[in-house]
Formats: sequence, structure tokens, C-alpha cells
Amino acid sequence: MTDIVKSKQVQNLLDTAAGVNQSGGNPRLKSILRDLLEGLMCTIEKHDISEDEFWVAVKFLQDGVNEFGLIAPGIGIEHFLDLHMDAKDAEAGLEGGTPRTIEGPLYVEGAPLIEGDLSKTNDVNLTDDPDDAEDMVMSGQITGPDGEPVGNAIMHVWHANSKGFYSHFDPTGAQSAFNNRRRIRLGKDGRYSFRSKMPSGYAVPPNGATDQLMKALGRHGNRPAHVHFFIEAPGYRTLTTQINFGDDPHAHDDFAFGTREGLLPIPDRVGGSPEIHFDFTLQKAQSDDDERFSKRARASI
Ligand SMILES: [Fe+2]
Repeated sequence: MTDIVKSKQVQNLLDTAAGVNQSGGNPRLKSILRDLLEGLMCTIEKHDISEDEFWVAVKFLQDGVNEFGLIAPGIGIEHFLDLHMDAKDAEAGLEGGTPRTIEGPLYVEGAPLIEGDLSKTNDVNLTDDPDDAEDMVMSGQITGPDGEPVGNAIMHVWHANSKGFYSHFDPTGAQSAFNNRRRIRLGKDGRYSFRSKMPSGYAVPPNGATDQLMKALGRHGNRPAHVHFFIEAPGYRTLTTQINFGDDPHAHDDFAFGTREGLLPIPDRVGGSPEIHFDFTLQKAQSDDDERFSKRARASI
């Protein structure tokens, strides 16, 4: 193994490449890029990465650019961001509430905003398209840290159909624009209830970049059946989470690391079709920033 990364020559190269010795530019970006480059160089040195291997990796990234949103959870980085935010919360004394977990790449902005105040409606349906899956009902309440009902929340919910495909991203083109996607406006009591067609778990697109990577790592690319949520409410911290069905074969073996303790309800099938009761607990917002969504670029229609 060579040992040149710490040499003056390479350290100068890093400073110059990251613009450290230039007055213009973004100082934060400079120091982050410098560390990333140095880590990459150390990895090249440690594993004696050849020129051939380096360019194979670049080609993989170029070809796989459309799947970065899937590769990120697949290699655990999206989950690590959650762990990092959790640790920062713990340091700041902000523990408690429903655990956050990965958003994933398949949210679509602009889903129909529908009435979900249960004192005004009893029919909140997410599914627009025919699907021979069984009906699923999910209900519960959104409360705050002291058990108080959270009023005027908007629940964003999205899930796959029974073939494991999401509307807007369905390669078969079979689904209408917002099938299994809604924004549900809740009432003062924070109670919610919706029905839809039972989603199925899914695998990454066959032969895509994520699939190739998972196979090369000796891993699979499967997720358990799950339902995604954003919950926003005035005065509370916006929650990004999902529930994974606790009885799915992949419930504890999720390639995207989206499964977390506390987010694994087992559907109740006593009445026939699956029913899930799940209560969400939000944290209070400490600042306006807490009430907003992350600035991640999202699909929109
Ligand atoms: Fe998903």
C-alpha cells in the first residue's frame, strides 16, 4: 500500500482542487469537497484501486444517475441521515414521538387535498384505479407530546398498488396520476381513517443500477409492503415516516433500511380484510424551520 495522501504534494493538490486557497466560492462546499476527495484518495490507496476499476465506477454512476434516489436508501445513506438527525435531536433533548424514517424517491407533489375531518366525512379513499387486492383500512389519531390532539393536520399518504408499483412511476403505465396518493385534511381531534387497496412489497427495477449493485454486494433489493407519510400541522414538527407491515416476509429485512422499531404494525385480520390502527405522535416545532419540508427535489404533476 502506498502512503502518499498525506504528502505535501497531494495535500496541496487537495487544497487547490477544492479551491481552499481561493477567496471566492462557498467555504462550506470547499471544506466538504476536500474531505470527500481525501477520503476517496485514501480508499484508492488502501484498496490499490486501478485506473480500470476507477472508470468502471464512474461509468456505473453515469449510467445509474436516474436511480440515485434508490441507491441512496439501498446503501444505507438515507437511513444514516435519519440516525444523524436522531442523534442531534438526542443531544438537544428532543427525543420522543413517532420515529422518522426515510422518505424514498417516490413522493409526488400536488396529490388531491381531501376532507378527512371525521366529524364531516366517513369516506376517505386513496385508490382510484381497479385493483383486485383486498381492502385495507388504516385509522388512528395524531397527538402531540403531552397526548393532546393535534388540530388541523394535513396527512400526506402514498403507497404502491398490489403489483408493487407507484402511480406516476409505474413502468406499465397502468395507473392514473394520483392513484393511492392523497393529502388528507384532518379536524380538531387529529383522528384519521382511510381505506385503500392493500399495497404489496416491491423489488428494485430488474437490471437497473440498484439491482446490479445489490447483486454485486450479494444482497437483495426487496422492500416489505409499506405506507409512506408526511404529517404537517401548525406548531408541530413535520414528520416524515412510513409504516411497514409487521407480517411481511421482508419486515425485518428491508433493503432500504426504512423499517424501524415502532413502525411495524401487524394488520388485524379478524374482520377479514386487513385493518391497521396506528397513532402518530408529533414533536412540537422549535422554529419555523421545523414546520417545513426538507428541500429535497420531488416529482410534481
Ligand atoms: Fe415506498
